[in-house]
Amino acid sequence: MFNDQRATQMLRIGQDADFSDSFCEPLALTSAYSFSSAREAAARFGGTEPGNVYSRFTNPTVNTFEQRVAFLEEAEAAVAFASGMAALSAVVMAFAASGCNIVCARDVFGTTLIMLRQHFARYGIEVRVVGMLDYDAWEKAIDSDTCLVIVETPANPMQHVADIARLSRMAHDHGALLLVDSTMLTPILQRPLRQGADLVLHSAGKYMDGHGRCIAGVVCGVDALMQPLRAVLRSQGACLSPMNAWLLLKSLETLELRMQRISANTLSMARWLDKHPNVAAVFYSGLESHPCHDIACAQQAGFGGVVSFEVGMSQKEAWAVMDALQLISIATNIGDTRSMVTHPASTTHGRWSPEDRMSCGIGDNLLRLSVGLESLADLQQDIDVALKTALDQKSRSLQGCSLLETLE
Ligand SMILES: Cc1ncc(COP(=O)(O)O)c(C=O)c1O
Repeated sequence: MFNDQRATQMLRIGQDADFSDSFCEPLALTSAYSFSSAREAAARFGGTEPGNVYSRFTNPTVNTFEQRVAFLEEAEAAVAFASGMAALSAVVMAFAASGCNIVCARDVFGTTLIMLRQHFARYGIEVRVVGMLDYDAWEKAIDSDTCLVIVETPANPMQHVADIARLSRMAHDHGALLLVDSTMLTPILQRPLRQGADLVLHSAGKYMDGHGRCIAGVVCGVDALMQPLRAVLRSQGACLSPMNAWLLLKSLETLELRMQRISANTLSMARWLDKHPNVAAVFYSGLESHPCHDIACAQQAGFGGVVSFEVGMSQKEAWAVMDALQLISIATNIGDTRSMVTHPASTTHGRWSPEDRMSCGIGDNLLRLSVGLESLADLQQDIDVALKTALDQKSRSLQGCSLLETLE
């Protein structure tokens, strides 16, 4: 009854549509590419002719994202990955080998340390962990067997800031590469290659996406360092999906505006928290009282969107404040347009030992706030009410205890 060719035609009609005048960058949601001849396929696979091959390692939408990030970071090139951790593991695979060591700051993102210590240490790569601001310890730890020096600055959640130029000199004196995780600031507020870093990494699902929609990672640097990384990506396969690359491209268009507003909001929030009678301590490198304020001013164009603060003495009070918030969401992410709060000791750094947490200053009463684009007054009111509610609960229970003691 029906034309036999329908099954074939329904798959083929319209496939040559021309998207070249589409105003938005086209989304190349494709795994494969068609070649004009068998010879062309062989040449592209062999790398003797340029062109797309297979979306695990070549995709035009992903490539456009990589080019924009490279431009923003003032880098020769960038390679995108499925996540920040995928990017970091590719860096280790590309530049470390059995018998070498990696020197890493203790203050890095919790999973970074876990990945190095629990996984890569099993491949004969020694992992040396040093206090981020202890430059004597860096000096002692880096030696001729060091292949990679890893630092995150500003570090999350305590906002410690490393002197990138100093660390790059130490790394280069021993022939090692310096990787800076610059997720917290994006290239709008910090460009570590200028200070001598070799590789800049972003968990791109944070501020780069900025709307909490995707997981993504990207690494930038000179072309000679990006080539081995792309070779790892081709075999390791933790590639960024074209859909996420397309979302990120749209987000990059507003990155500068968002980072400026978020950074300004966060500085005002940090100053306000610092004066709040129910806040024990505030950690934000934009505050003059922060130990890293001077280096932050010297190498950053802003202080970013994360401020951490201590409430009460224990986890109980920190959780009570979180639970009393009405507007700010409890979520373990940063860099969204909407503000979020996290209790690092029981989430992002929950797999660390209490000793490691304490050595970074991550106490049980610490909260991390990722400030979004909402009205600052609304955010402050939410926190103010939550602090007072949590404090009232505490004083009521203390009153209850003393009443019991009186009765006894
Ligand atoms: C500073 C920093 N680096 C790296 C990562 C890991 O990135 P991803 O979650 O994209 O794997 C995170 C994740 O939260 C992070 O905050």
